[in-house]
Formats: sequence, C-alpha cells, structure tokens
Amino acid sequence: MHPDIERIVFSEEEIRARVAELGAQITEDFAPAVARGEQIVLVSVLRGAAMFMADLAREIKLPLAMDYMVVSSYGNATTSSGEIRILKDMSEATEGKHVIIAEDVIDSGLTLSYLLRLFEHRAAASVTVCALLKKNVKGQVHVPVRYLGFTCPTEFVVGYGLDYAERYRNLPYIGVLKPEVYS
Ligand code: PRP
Repeated sequence: MHPDIERIVFSEEEIRARVAELGAQITEDFAPAVARGEQIVLVSVLRGAAMFMADLAREIKLPLAMDYMVVSSYGNATTSSGEIRILKDMSEATEGKHVIIAEDVIDSGLTLSYLLRLFEHRAAASVTVCALLKKNVKGQVHVPVRYLGFTCPTEFVVGYGLDYAERYRNLPYIGVLKPEVYS
C-alpha cells in the first residue's frame, strides 16, 4: 500500500468486480435499443472519470461511441444552482442518442445535475448516469443515478482516477488519504 494511504476502502479486485457487474447490467438494459438500431455514447468528464470509463467501456458488450467533456465548476452544494462552465464540449452531436454518463464520484451533485439538463436540452434519446462512487454529503443536489458502484465514505479518498493535487490518480485501489498529507 502507498505510504500516504491510511486504509484501502475499495480494493482493485472489488472495483474490477463491481465495474464488471455495472457493465453487464448496462449491456442487458441497452441491448434492445441497440437491436433497434439506436446509438449509445458513453461520456466522461475529464479527468477523474477517465479510468472508470475506460474499464466500464470494456465491460459493455455492445457497440458504443466514447466522448469526453471538460468542465469547471464554481460554487458548492450550499449555493443555489452552482455554475458550470464547459471548457471542452463533446466531439460528436448527441441528438437522438442514448447518453450514458460515466462519473467517478458524486459529491455536491452539481456537475451531473448540469450535464443531465444539458443532454436533455440537446434532445438525447435518453440520459443515464453510471457513477462509481457516491458520497452522502449534506446539501447534495438530487441526481437520478441508475447505476451506482459504491456508496463512499465522506473522508478524503484518492485513487482509481481520484486525486489530491493531481497525485494518486494511478493507484489501482481507492483509499483514504492520511490527513497529515493535506493538512
Ligand atoms: C470531480 C469528479 C466529478 C466532480 C464531482 O472532478 O471527477 O466530475 O468533481 O463533484 P460534484 O458532484 O461536487 O459536482 P474535479 O472537479 O475534482 O476534477 P478532476 O476530474 O479533474 O479531478
């Protein structure tokens, strides 16, 4: 284990198994749409969700497109609607497609709530959230999550895409960071 990690919350094996389950469920649920000739696009918001999306995509046994957005957020869960700015938009149009958003963690819920509205506004055939982690934090905006990996402790977790000051994203597990590292 990395010396800055206090304890592992979700091991590499647990993550792999859960991601496989999520992918299998998505495969089952979206197979009829694909059979009708409809298109799926898997979307992630860089950077944290890139690793999760890469693994999830390989567990979805259906044809799909992969696309990426970069957004920056202002405000927090205690401010009204939050403000999100798009720094990099989708490369392809999503109108009429089934959009599946692969998100690494839901914290305030503002990022996802904005993206759901955005894709609905852009007339996607459907918009579905697949989140690896959800933290139960006070004031969180409600987001409909169809697929959820794990409920996550509200401690400072890193690994598997999650960073502290751009470090630890490449740890293969998710663990609690020792407080002395960031205090
Ligand atoms: C994190 C995470 C989500 C978002 C969730 O990204 O990857 O996209 O925050 O937070 P919310 O529910 O409060 O909106 P971050 O802004 O840390 O950028 P990163 O992905 O580059 O690490």
